[in-house]
Amino acid sequence: MAGGTIRLFIGFSSILFSICVSLGFNPEDSYLINCGSSSNVTVGGRVFVSDKSASNLLSAPQTISANAISKSNSSSFDSVLYQSARIFDKTSLYTFPITKQGWHWIRLYFSPFVHGSYNSSTAKFSVSAQTFTLVKELRMESDSFVMEYSLNVTSETLVLTFTPASNSFAFVNALEVVSIPDKIIPEAVRTIGSKENNQSLTNKALETVSRVNMGNQTVSPPNDTLWRHWVPDGLYLTHNGLPRFVSNESAIHYTRWLTEDVAPSSVYGTATKLETMKEPMLNANLTWHFDVDPGFEYLVRFHFCDIVSNNAQSFILKVYINSLSVSDSLDLRSLTSNIYGTPYYMDVVIRASDSEKLNVSVGSRPEIVYPIIFLNGLEIMKISNSKSSLDVLDSSSKTGSKMKVAIVVGLAVGLFTTIVLAAVLFLLCRRRRRLAHTIHSNAEDGVVNETESKITDSTAMFSVSKIGYRFPFVAIREATDNFSENLVIGVGGFGKVYKGVLKDNTKVAVKRGAPQSRQGLAEFMTEIEMLSQFRHRHLVSLIGYCDEQNEMIIIYEYMGNGSLNDYLYGSDFPSLSWRQRLGICVGAAKGLHYLHTGSTKAIIHRDVKTANILLDENLMAKVADFGLSKTGPEIDQTHVSTAVKGSFGYLDPEYLTRQQLTEKSDVYSFGVVMFEVLCGRPVIDPSLPRESVNLVEWAMKSHNKGQLEEIVDPCLAGQVKPESLRKFGEIIAKCLAEHGVDRPTVGDVLWNLESVLQLEGSEGSNGRLSSQADHVNPLETSVSIAEFSMGSAGDLAGFSMSKVFAQMVKEDMR
Ligand SMILES: *[C@@H]1O[C@H](CO)[C@@H](O)[C@H](O)[C@H]1NC(C)=O
Ligand SMILES: *[C@@H]1O[C@H](CO)[C@@H](O)[C@H](O)[C@H]1NC(C)=O
Ligand SMILES: *[C@@H]1O[C@H](CO)[C@@H](O)[C@H](O)[C@H]1NC(C)=O
Ligand SMILES: *[C@@H]1O[C@H](CO)[C@@H](O)[C@H](O)[C@H]1NC(C)=O
Ligand SMILES: *[C@@H]1O[C@H](CO)[C@@H](O)[C@H](O)[C@H]1NC(C)=O
Ligand SMILES: *[C@@H]1O[C@H](CO)[C@@H](O)[C@H](O)[C@H]1NC(C)=O
Ligand SMILES: *[C@@H]1O[C@H](CO)[C@@H](O)[C@H](O)[C@H]1NC(C)=O
Ligand SMILES: *[C@@H]1O[C@H](CO)[C@@H](O)[C@H](O)[C@H]1NC(C)=O
Ligand SMILES: *[C@@H]1O[C@H](CO)[C@@H](O)[C@H](O)[C@H]1NC(C)=O
Ligand SMILES: *[C@@H]1O[C@H](CO)[C@@H](O)[C@H](O)[C@H]1NC(C)=O
Repeated sequence: MAGGTIRLFIGFSSILFSICVSLGFNPEDSYLINCGSSSNVTVGGRVFVSDKSASNLLSAPQTISANAISKSNSSSFDSVLYQSARIFDKTSLYTFPITKQGWHWIRLYFSPFVHGSYNSSTAKFSVSAQTFTLVKELRMESDSFVMEYSLNVTSETLVLTFTPASNSFAFVNALEVVSIPDKIIPEAVRTIGSKENNQSLTNKALETVSRVNMGNQTVSPPNDTLWRHWVPDGLYLTHNGLPRFVSNESAIHYTRWLTEDVAPSSVYGTATKLETMKEPMLNANLTWHFDVDPGFEYLVRFHFCDIVSNNAQSFILKVYINSLSVSDSLDLRSLTSNIYGTPYYMDVVIRASDSEKLNVSVGSRPEIVYPIIFLNGLEIMKISNSKSSLDVLDSSSKTGSKMKVAIVVGLAVGLFTTIVLAAVLFLLCRRRRRLAHTIHSNAEDGVVNETESKITDSTAMFSVSKIGYRFPFVAIREATDNFSENLVIGVGGFGKVYKGVLKDNTKVAVKRGAPQSRQGLAEFMTEIEMLSQFRHRHLVSLIGYCDEQNEMIIIYEYMGNGSLNDYLYGSDFPSLSWRQRLGICVGAAKGLHYLHTGSTKAIIHRDVKTANILLDENLMAKVADFGLSKTGPEIDQTHVSTAVKGSFGYLDPEYLTRQQLTEKSDVYSFGVVMFEVLCGRPVIDPSLPRESVNLVEWAMKSHNKGQLEEIVDPCLAGQVKPESLRKFGEIIAKCLAEHGVDRPTVGDVLWNLESVLQLEGSEGSNGRLSSQADHVNPLETSVSIAEFSMGSAGDLAGFSMSKVFAQMVKEDMR
């Protein structure tokens, strides 16, 4: 009974502690042992207890403690731990009771010493934890060192075993077993340079090989909430006079899903950048070399934080390991909402096949003037192999017979992959052909002028142009009054958007890629290909495109009421009623639902936000900008207030940390959209007090307190029934669940939104639409594309364009 009470009390007080003092991480399991010593010592604020206090954890048949042994005269903060050691003559175990299952750190401290007949340089032993071999033949170095391992402990105890080689002994100066937040180690990570594209880490052990702070500054454990040691990058950096070390630690601000437990501000606040001020067209990489053991896989974590750019510059990073691409266009700006000082990290797994080096490079696109190239931190962790070992002696690349097996397996896998690839290609071709065929059969009615096509083909950039949406450049020039500045309705990184009128008086939005933005080509092609395959009343339609003379022009239906975000706040449109807002949400959800389920393979929008929900003259919502490649172009550089509404606030935290996109990422973003609709404010508003800057954090706080009515857009005062507010809030909260699996599908969201709309009564609901014809089957889709797809503008009259309208005012057009 008494024990129970004490436990409860301790539990309670530690909760109080973590609430009152949210400084640093408070591990559930924490064993810090000053081995061989009879006294407790405090190292950087943590107490390493004496061996005696920990003797119940140790079972060692033959052991002695060695005191006052340190020869090194290091002034390092942890030198006191090296004053003593525990020596094992026989296999010995530490057994640690574990209260919190999940990831733990094991740190082993070693330092050379001589004690009686024991000379540490003759020590030879292995260390294992649970079933993992951490090290097989530990070799001493001339100085003290710490080995760090991460282990997902799934049982009630963690057993650490020291096994001396025959006629030798084992020892340890100090050790740590500490639980860490599980999110620090991802469950699965994308692999590069190998056929598996996913490596699960849950059943692996990791060894920290390098933990480097770019900016050439040491960060010692007391300055890291998880007691990590970060070494300066100077040692690893290739010297060509180009790197420069920069810092601005005060600029760092963490977010809900990236806290300082990931890395301290002294890591994110310093960086190594490429010096380009003197050479604006410099085309070079920043490169670091690291030693690794061949035959192992490595988890590599890149830490980025923009503390180097000024706000006007945009930049795209290219990241490589050993000349394999990790990211071809990392748009840090949009990943961090253009907010200076917001940290970001990216994980990847790579196999060090026969190389003893891991060369990490960061570069930029060659055409960019004054490229911004930098890195803030890097962690490299070795992943235990199939023998559950982390030691090179167990590496498969060492043994010849194993190689043969690997080759045979490799061949089998290769063959299989080839067959699968061939099958996929075959299916793809068939599908493409079917689409092209349907279109072509209509085009043959003389709509496409073959001669004209031939003339323009000479300058055409790609083959999608065989699809019949292709417009002659002259027709577009005419429609936009020779691209008159007066008709510009939007400007973005991609180029400008013009309002245009075709010969038949159809209003259109014409997006013209700037000639120099050749990098937009991939996005341009993706968008046309996507748009030409899907057609739905809640998706903005493609009318045509033009790729003559290196132009990249896309023509969309015109949406008379602009984008939802403009309607909600950024302009002086009349405020939308609650019923109209619900109707818009329902419409947008239908568009997304169609993308996710309308064809055999789900399309993930990837950039759901209010700026991408456009409204026609009847306030019917249509989703725009879908089917983008994951990596978009630069965000708008011309307009700060719109730029701040970037995609960051909408990003699924799971996607942000793991780069694993699913339909549920769209669901998360849609949850954010619904909050925006409810509150009538931007997702990120830096002009507000700090706790309100991020809409999601701010609004979830009110939701969790059950006080959602406090944050409802004042324009809606008195309109929202409490019951519908409650339901609406519940839908949002589900969409914003931390893990994708816990979020509903868009179909569920749609169903729930419709029931909220019903609560409000159905009369006079603008934007509420019958669901008839919303679910177009894919076959019909191709046919209907064919019906209005034509090569010349004049034939568009038959297409019911009179109803379609608008505007592509979007701060980041692609
Ligand atoms: C060391 O710390 C442990 C736990 O905090 C305590 O039980 C023990 O009495 C301390 N030992 C000494 C010698 O201070
Ligand atoms: C350690 O350094 C201090 C001064 O830095 C010196 O006085 C002392 O003798 C040194 N001890 C050993 C063991 O080298
Ligand atoms: C410990 O062993 C190393 C290597 O065998 C030797 O160089 C060193 O002199 C020894 N130290 C002592 C104090 O015996
Ligand atoms: C990657 O791993 C995750 C989690 O184990 C899994 O859900 C996902 O399907 C995997 N993706 C691929 C492409 O294997
Ligand atoms: C640890 O491993 C278990 C068993 O494989 C797994 O269920 C669990 O999700 C893992 N924990 C973490 C945090 O990865
Ligand atoms: C921690 O950081 C502060 C400020 O950067 C520095 O003054 C201090 O020396 C650091 N502490 C350690 C133990 O490195
Ligand atoms: C990095 O800092 C170390 C001192 O910590 C210094 O010796 C080295 O020269 C620096 N590296 C570069 C490239 O400046
Ligand atoms: C550091 O960041 C702050 C914003 O947090 C900014 O005002 C300041 O100009 C930055 N300093 C430098 C040297 O860039
Ligand atoms: C890494 O860089 C070194 C030095 O430039 C080079 O010798 C080595 O081949 C590179 N390794 C790989 C795997 O690219
Ligand atoms: C940067 O490194 C990558 C990978 O090694 C290489 O392909 C690229 O050419 C390098 N860029 C420059 C400018 O050296």
